[in-house]
Amino acid sequence: MTFDHPSFGRITNDRVFIFDTTLRDGEQSPGFSMNLEEKLRMAEALADLGVDVIEAGFPVASKGDFQSVAEIARVVKGAVVCALARSGGKNDIQAAGDAIAHAERGRIHNFISTSPLHMKYKLRMEPETVLDIVTAGNKAARNLTNDVEWSAEDGSRTEPDFLCRCVEAAIKAGATTINIPDTVGYATPEDMERIFSMLQERVPGADQVIFSAHNHNDLGLGVANTLASLRGGARQIECTINGIGERAGNAALEEIIMAIRTRHDQYPYTNRIETTKLLKLSKMLSTTTGFDVQPNKAIVGRNAFAHESGIHQDGVLKNAATYEIMTPESVGWSKSSLVLGKHSGRAAFRDKLAALGYTIADDKMNEAFQRFKDLADSKKVVYDEDIVALVDDEVRDHARIRFLSLDVASGSRRAAEATLDLEIDGEAVETTANGNGPVDAAFNAIRSAFPHDARLALFSVGAVTEGTDAQARTTVRLEENGKMVDGQGADADTVVSAVRSYIHALNKLLVKRTRSEPEALLAD
Ligand code: KIV
Ligand code: ZN
Repeated sequence: MTFDHPSFGRITNDRVFIFDTTLRDGEQSPGFSMNLEEKLRMAEALADLGVDVIEAGFPVASKGDFQSVAEIARVVKGAVVCALARSGGKNDIQAAGDAIAHAERGRIHNFISTSPLHMKYKLRMEPETVLDIVTAGNKAARNLTNDVEWSAEDGSRTEPDFLCRCVEAAIKAGATTINIPDTVGYATPEDMERIFSMLQERVPGADQVIFSAHNHNDLGLGVANTLASLRGGARQIECTINGIGERAGNAALEEIIMAIRTRHDQYPYTNRIETTKLLKLSKMLSTTTGFDVQPNKAIVGRNAFAHESGIHQDGVLKNAATYEIMTPESVGWSKSSLVLGKHSGRAAFRDKLAALGYTIADDKMNEAFQRFKDLADSKKVVYDEDIVALVDDEVRDHARIRFLSLDVASGSRRAAEATLDLEIDGEAVETTANGNGPVDAAFNAIRSAFPHDARLALFSVGAVTEGTDAQARTTVRLEENGKMVDGQGADADTVVSAVRSYIHALNKLLVKRTRSEPEALLAD
């Protein structure tokens, strides 16, 4: 197979294109929503990682989604920026086209369900109507950009003959990539390989498009199904960092990439991913969303390269290949290094931030630098992870409520009392409150300084690095009238970290109160 693709030029059969949907399918899952600034930072890091396509959002879903896709399209270079649209949605395709209008290379990804179950119960449409929409949607998209992807939603449960007809219609109408999602994570590797082989054998024009795999992980088969899809002839992989996504998530980018690299004998394909940046992306996503991956997560989990048993340790010391199928360095793990000390100056701090992918405006620099100095005073060793967690608070813009300081008295023989200083809309406010433990007292102080009815739906605490002097990383989820927001914070003091997370969530909620709710588009 060789042909010219509108975004990638001459395509050869061994090239696999990496389509990252962390910011769309991933961001759709509860608790993983990101604001514009966070999405932009992730998108730039994804382009730097070497992904070929960034699915940046679903522009018709809300003004916020439109803005993020448009901004990513305007700013991010080096990857195709893709916008999602329903094939038959009233304004979807135009909104997607408008959002990617300023991209270096832009793609419209339109989709409609094709399985008997979805057509009958979800769409309430006859197959012939769906076919007409496939044609119309792809033609409309093709009028706005040369790079058009079409997805057969619930494709893995679609009748083969009908799937072939839909794919043929999409190609005739101008689609250049054809995606067959396993939307509900039901397929097996054998199913996926068979579906892609069948489409390539039977559909006229199949040799002039890229086939794409999009596998959900409900049975834990997302990565296996993706690798099987490659065997069947798919040459685009849709995946997310850390495997985040609807329900059990999508196939994990880092796992697929390392499977292809480690088992090149079975998957002899090339891609542009710089594997040494995989860990950085994983950590950036965890810090942004507040959800760490589990310790035993392949590639990026804390224990992924940790050898506990004496026999294994002995083997690794003699020859790492005895128990390591890939090196930790190849995915970005290195012995955590002392990055900066308490004598480091502002220039070194700024350089370090730049190396970690952060640029901080001058007005925020002072505060960030002061926090770094405080941390370096209280903590023996300051790691890259500490710096990332620390500056994350500082790069958040437009905050109405800002943390100034906290004093807490607590213990087994007294009631907890918290005295909190905040800046609210530019005014300094001090409050004192009691509570059932220090965190409760501090949260009560926030509620008394800034009264609100949001419910605390989740509070979780983790450690940024090892040791008792590690910074705590906390997440607070607030819920108000069905709107849910997550806030993150980090500090060497767990209660201060908790307060930072609460304030972060509250600031997000204040922004969210002013926005209209996105329509429940994916459900129809
Ligand atoms: O899982 C799915 O079917 C999707 C489509 C919108 C591509 O995410
Ligand atoms: Zn999906």
